Amino acid sequence: MLILGIETSCDETAAAVVEDGRRIRSSIIASQAELHSKYGGVVPEIASRKHMETIMPVVCEALDEANVTLRDIEGIAVTRGPGLVGSLLVGLSFAKAMAFALDIPCIGVNHLEGHVAAVFLSDNYPEFPFIALVVSGGHTNIYLAKAFQNFISLGQTRDDAAGEAFDKAAKLLNIGYPGGVVIESLAKKGNREVIKFPRAMRESMDFSFSGLKTSLLVYIKKRIHPIADDELPDITASYQEAIVDVLVEKTIRASEQNAVSRIVVCGGVAANSRLRERFIEESRLRGFDVFIPPRVLCTDNAAMIAVVGDSLLRRGIKDSLDMNAVSRWPLDSL
Ligand code: KG4
Ligand code: ZN
Repeated sequence: MLILGIETSCDETAAAVVEDGRRIRSSIIASQAELHSKYGGVVPEIASRKHMETIMPVVCEALDEANVTLRDIEGIAVTRGPGLVGSLLVGLSFAKAMAFALDIPCIGVNHLEGHVAAVFLSDNYPEFPFIALVVSGGHTNIYLAKAFQNFISLGQTRDDAAGEAFDKAAKLLNIGYPGGVVIESLAKKGNREVIKFPRAMRESMDFSFSGLKTSLLVYIKKRIHPIADDELPDITASYQEAIVDVLVEKTIRASEQNAVSRIVVCGGVAANSRLRERFIEESRLRGFDVFIPPRVLCTDNAAMIAVVGDSLLRRGIKDSLDMNAVSRWPLDSL
């Protein structure tokens, strides 16, 4: 079964063709990062306008690269939420119109479930149940994933998301956007022990990252001289380690407490090489199995959306064309 996936929840316009929920025939991602970089974050109005310009060429390119025509597509899976409503509406309206014209099913997909489902696009994927750490620009959640559409929340952020903590730090340090990528690359040359940034709420299964961001701000303000370029590697490495520490620690605790030895790490922040490295190290030491999608499938893409669409369609689940975009849509409410 060939599913066309469409994703426009934030600042990537993406389309993909996925066969049988497992094989990527094409995956096109048009990033708007450059457009938003001068603002240090995504500007919703600019994002939705850009999606409108880009959606048609991106979908055409996905079909071309997959070497299929519209007639070969059996269903359209589209991100319905959570995300920026103006952005979501572009993909959703496009998908609904296409599904109506082609007389094929349209399936509204939860973006977070998409991030988790990216793991099924690798050769080595886990059986349910597993513990899923979803870490992105807007979310930091730990779930017990029992099946598609069956997630139990075990912990979440009380304030900023992990990706947001990266992005806000990069803004404070004036080193560019998106923050995670810039910090990861600077941190590679740094010593992560130099600055002791706080690890908040250690006892809880919830996360808090706003204090970490504030402690960086205090560190910057307390200084007499502006930060020199050669100090950035140590600062970013220490900051990154504070985020990675709590993510790893709590996810492993969730695995132990629930006696589930398979862990999936996904979402944009799962592209971070230090986070990946730490999970792999710990899995060897403690004997759990960790599954992390390839980097390009961690950040927003439409192939992951098509995987969820495939699984829903196989179970006869499809949506009516009057479904709407939703800015908040907890994964444990499916
Ligand atoms: O999943 P995603 O592409 O979009 C959302 O659903 O939010 O995640 C974007 C987030 C941004 O905050 C970005 O800074 C972060 O993921 N990110 C990274 C890396 N690549 C992207 N964070 C740390 N290291 C990276 N390599
Ligand atoms: Zn995402």
